[in-house]
Amino acid sequence: MKRTLLYSSLAIIACLGLYTRFWEPNWLEQTTRRIPISRLARPVRAVHLSDLHASPEVSPDLIDESFRMAIAAKPDVVLLTGDFVTTTTTFDRATLISQLKRLAQAVPTFAVLGNHDGGEWSLSCGDSDSTEALRSVLRESGVVLLDNESRLIELNSQTVQLVGVGDLWSGEINPARAFAQAKPGVPTILLSHNPDTKAQLKRYEWDLMLSGHTHGGQVVMPILGWSHVPMWDHRFTRGLNPWQGRWIHITRGVGNVRGIRFNCRPEVSVLNLEPKAM
Ligand SMILES: [Fe+2]
Repeated sequence: MKRTLLYSSLAIIACLGLYTRFWEPNWLEQTTRRIPISRLARPVRAVHLSDLHASPEVSPDLIDESFRMAIAAKPDVVLLTGDFVTTTTTFDRATLISQLKRLAQAVPTFAVLGNHDGGEWSLSCGDSDSTEALRSVLRESGVVLLDNESRLIELNSQTVQLVGVGDLWSGEINPARAFAQAKPGVPTILLSHNPDTKAQLKRYEWDLMLSGHTHGGQVVMPILGWSHVPMWDHRFTRGLNPWQGRWIHITRGVGNVRGIRFNCRPEVSVLNLEPKAM
């Protein structure tokens, strides 16, 4: 009896290990959320992707599949919120460029960088203090990097403003520069890798902030909901959150670090932005 219990326990642990390492990290979920925005005149569909983490631990097929799902959702725009890689030296540059190029050729695609894409934090981990490797990948792919800057774009026959800031941990965030040319009164989507930046960005005019960074917790304990999240404000770990009359959306991301996920599937986020009746 004791031996049966032992074997059963070992079998369950082995199955959970295999699931966490090989199944769930590749089990993409497409989520769809409706976000009312008062300054919007017409509906806009955006796909929000983040944390691709191109690396030996993340299959190129997973990234391909996330882009295929994004394009199939027929969005007006794709918005990428950083951590394209896990380190700036261990990713397949040619593959990532060809993948991003296919995405950007299908849908206008804009991006900001994350803490893994170079900068102060990467340097502290023994990687590069330069973000140039990823900047050149985006340039060659046709993905527009919002480098502490704003852009006015036409989406569904109306003007929408995108603002992107550099990453907090990378030491590249400069909100004053990002909003210097921003036009007031225009529906504004802010891209910021780390949701902890909301306090620094609070004084500026925006309707919706898109972030990643948390991976949704990546490994989330069932029932207890506990997970390790590398940020201060754990209220903003995943999903759509109201905050001070605006919205913050945190996607769980596509890739991962260390090749594992549990109870927290990789995510392709389709955001239906809709005019809100005043
Ligand atoms: Fe990440």
